[in-house]
Amino acid sequence: MTDDVSRLLEADLIDDADVAIEGTLRPRTLDEYIGQREVKANLSVLLQAARGRGEAADHVLLYGPPGLGKTTLATIVARELGVNIRYTSGPAVERAGDLAAILTALDERDVLFIDEIHRLNRAVEEILYPAMEDYALDVMIGKGPSARSLRLSLKPFTVVGATTRAGRISSPLRDRFGATYRLDFYGEDELVAIVNRSARILGVEVQPEAARAIARRGRGTPRIVNRLLKRVRDHAQVHGDGRVDERTATDAMRAMEIDDEGLDSTDRKLLAAIVQKFGSGPVGVQALAAVLSEEVETIEDVYEPFLLRLGFIDRTPQGRIATEAARQHLSRLGFEVPPPRRAEPEMVALWADPPAGSG
Ligand SMILES: Nc1ncnc2c1ncn2[C@@H]1O[C@H](COP(=O)(O)OP(=O)(O)O)[C@@H](O)[C@H]1O
Ligand SMILES: [Mg+2]
Repeated sequence: MTDDVSRLLEADLIDDADVAIEGTLRPRTLDEYIGQREVKANLSVLLQAARGRGEAADHVLLYGPPGLGKTTLATIVARELGVNIRYTSGPAVERAGDLAAILTALDERDVLFIDEIHRLNRAVEEILYPAMEDYALDVMIGKGPSARSLRLSLKPFTVVGATTRAGRISSPLRDRFGATYRLDFYGEDELVAIVNRSARILGVEVQPEAARAIARRGRGTPRIVNRLLKRVRDHAQVHGDGRVDERTATDAMRAMEIDDEGLDSTDRKLLAAIVQKFGSGPVGVQALAAVLSEEVETIEDVYEPFLLRLGFIDRTPQGRIATEAARQHLSRLGFEVPPPRRAEPEMVALWADPPAGSG
């Protein structure tokens, strides 16, 4: 069961069934793409302008937590431009030659989607710079003193890069994108719309209160509401008549150990660790990762963004702290919540230096 629950948050698709379902639920046009209004509006102008000029669109960088619709948007970009899309990812392109092969195979104005673009290695990145800037490929011929570089030209194309965090991308690479868009967590109404749309596609009857119950626990993330919907649908089939009402939805989510805020057991373990083992913080992410046996990157990319958004944790220069809201949430769920170790602000003031420039 626990394995299954963690799949809800899994950034990558696990098996073919997952891939197939995500495929069918994926919006195909900007109109079908729900939410992210500002991104859509800007992107729509960029695409129209490129189409109007008959040129390749500017390179686009998309960033934001997993499951918010980056890959989907890349697919839409290609579709709206009426061109082909080639998918690859940072870790998949190991050598400069691999990227050169991909680039030379692109057709005029095609889209090259590079997922996890922050994980490209240095040698590969250096091929990408002139390719993005001048549609040029610099190849080295020969070795030693007689080696020289030869410049080949590429057909104009568009890179759509995706990353969970823009800060991880080297600045020369970041500078080569004409447009950078940040995807943010979705609001409850948008998630309700996504649940309803997915339910229609999957042919499940979902009552309005049930759709809202799913949306509310969906961590602001389309991929998660879609996965919750599928699990709730299974539950309704096994325990009811297949229709999803609020009761079935909440029962199913309780069985998955998803609480009212949409937190799963790992989220709660993370908060409980900060509160119980580290006196509510501050604690460094490495120490947390060790206690939870998770990768630092998973904590930073998958768990923390939503906890920050809920206001359950704060990042300080000294490390992560659990907020009063988190402490109250845990306490409502019956966790033991010892008083925070950190000094209260007014106590600090007694021996802190007076603010610079005062008096
Ligand atoms: N704006 C949206 N409207 C409707 N469904 C969406 C939207 N964004 C994402 N989805 C759904 O969520 C799933 C995950 O989106 P994806 O693009 O793979 O996320 P990311 O690449 O950011 O991890 C997709 O299969 C799609 O069905
Ligand atoms: Mg993706």
